[in-house]
Amino acid sequence: MKILLTGGAGFIGSHTAVALIENGFEPIIVDDFRNSEPFVIENIEKIVGKKITSYASNIGNKKEVKEILQKENPIGVIHFAADKAVNESVVNPMKYYQNNVLNLINFLEIIDSIKIESFVFSSSCTVYGVPDKTPVKETASIKPAFSPYGYTKQVGERILNDFFKSLPSSSLTLLRYFNPIGAHPSGLIGELPIGVPSNLVPYITQTAIGKRKKLTVFGKDYDTPDGTCIRDYIHVVDLANAHVSALEKGLKSKDSIKTLNVGTGKGASVLDVITAFEKVSKQELNYGFGPRRAGDVPKIYSDNTLIKNELDWDAKFSLEDCLEHSWNWEKNLLKFKYKSEKKQD
Ligand code: UFG
Repeated sequence: MKILLTGGAGFIGSHTAVALIENGFEPIIVDDFRNSEPFVIENIEKIVGKKITSYASNIGNKKEVKEILQKENPIGVIHFAADKAVNESVVNPMKYYQNNVLNLINFLEIIDSIKIESFVFSSSCTVYGVPDKTPVKETASIKPAFSPYGYTKQVGERILNDFFKSLPSSSLTLLRYFNPIGAHPSGLIGELPIGVPSNLVPYITQTAIGKRKKLTVFGKDYDTPDGTCIRDYIHVVDLANAHVSALEKGLKSKDSIKTLNVGTGKGASVLDVITAFEKVSKQELNYGFGPRRAGDVPKIYSDNTLIKNELDWDAKFSLEDCLEHSWNWEKNLLKFKYKSEKKQD
């Protein structure tokens, strides 16, 4: 069964391609390789031991995407293709509205003419803004978005809800990710940050390997046990498996719309992450404290009861597993030449 993966060469997309193949599906990757690398496709093939189909195309290109859909005739879609840098979205909001909203609309216009039985959308816990309480449930109120990026996820969810209400034989699953980290245990695929990473874990691994001098922990005076922010860090392979489970459930239960948190249900502070990293890498990390980062939510982690019940899914990897795999990946990256690296300072 063919499943179209838009943005399938990206961090979460590539791990989902592997998980799909492991579960008997055939992923068809469409990616413009703007923020991803062609070697990722080769490495997916090394992991699964077979060739996979991929197209270098932007999902905003209606003509090309229509031809791909007509040729491949997938029964499911997992839609990852989007820009995701919170800070960049503040500086360049139109890029985000163009790629995350307009291209989504263009894409839906095309899939309207073919039968997609199960559609899974890559959403984010950013839709919750600063939650009134943690763990946060899917029923929590949606607050005004902090960034254009966050707003595109809120709008994307709404557009898809409205679109799929009028498609009675298709199902929609909106997956709200918490903080995806880690890498494939093989060390062949992982996150490829462009330029200076803004996310914690790639910053940690790049500091440990010597690409960055020192990690700054943003704030130590939050109202949390150790004063640093709390997040729900989820291994990318667990997240990838959640996509496969969501897709499968959608194929079985047509005509349903579900919104599910994907997290471990546990919070970890920035210092917890550093401690876990130092343990698995057996080295001290050069870090210090700096002021709070504007826009950071002090504490957010998921209530994952719903996804556990609906999809019979659970997170299998620990925080230490996540950091061990991220660290392996960072060390392996020395072997690969990739364009995003050239953009680093
Ligand atoms: N942090 C540091 N130093 C760094 C980088 C991060 O201390 O150099 C801290 C942050 O202040 C925060 C925590 O590490 O407390 C996690 O920060 P990340 O940037 O890794 O992740 P965020 O929780 O800020 O952002 C993530 C995703 C976004 C998504 C958001 C939703 O990256 O795409 O969650 O809350 F929108």
